[in-house]
Amino acid sequence: MSFNIAIDGPAGAGKSTIAKRIAKELSYIYVDTGAMYRAMALYFLRMGLDAQDHEGMAAACNGADISIRYVDGEQNVLLNGENVTPYTRSEEVGNMASKSSPVPRVREKLTQLQKALAAREDVVMDGRDIGTCVLPGAQVKIYLTASTHTRALRRFKELEEKGITESLEEIEADIADRDYRDMHRDISPLKKAEDAWYLDTSDMGIDEVVEAILDRVAQYQKA
Ligand code: DC
Repeated sequence: MSFNIAIDGPAGAGKSTIAKRIAKELSYIYVDTGAMYRAMALYFLRMGLDAQDHEGMAAACNGADISIRYVDGEQNVLLNGENVTPYTRSEEVGNMASKSSPVPRVREKLTQLQKALAAREDVVMDGRDIGTCVLPGAQVKIYLTASTHTRALRRFKELEEKGITESLEEIEADIADRDYRDMHRDISPLKKAEDAWYLDTSDMGIDEVVEAILDRVAQYQKA
């Protein structure tokens, strides 16, 4: 049976950085489910669909074939065979992903793909509904979070390093909006699974978080 680690939490909590490190340490596959929702969002944007047009999105789903491939250990998301990974990280695509991810048909499609992958491989999978819906049987579940201000500051610094200046207030407001949408949608809202370990990383460094999670995994494997 494959070993599955589920990591959920709000935007900017450091899920992908942490999940990637854990996967590398354990030689597991890292699955970034947000990137799949972003690839679908990119597809809808390219089709010119409005973010409110849930019926249009549901109907368009059949035309989008999403798959993932690993190149040098990095996840690439393919949309109808095209590697769209470089186009998925923008704020525009992220916002569209947050608005299109509540569409049941979108979730059904991507959840199926994620479940199949985790059944075949040892994975560290991150997202919003992994511990609650996608992999309810995951051996280790983590709910990773940090204060809104800390997450905004991290994002601000990340953008600054890329030479992009955005106001901290705007980033913080954007994060708060996205959290609200992700936590209050009707289907698969972001919430801590009952059996997930709640980890607030506001005052923790990356190494500390990675070590704490690896400890947890080791404890589980020993038990
Ligand atoms: O983690 P991220 O910022 O790349 O995710 C983009 C959006 O996709 C996020 O606003 C919510 C959605 N998402 C989701 O609904 N379920 C997941 N498992 C992962 C992401």
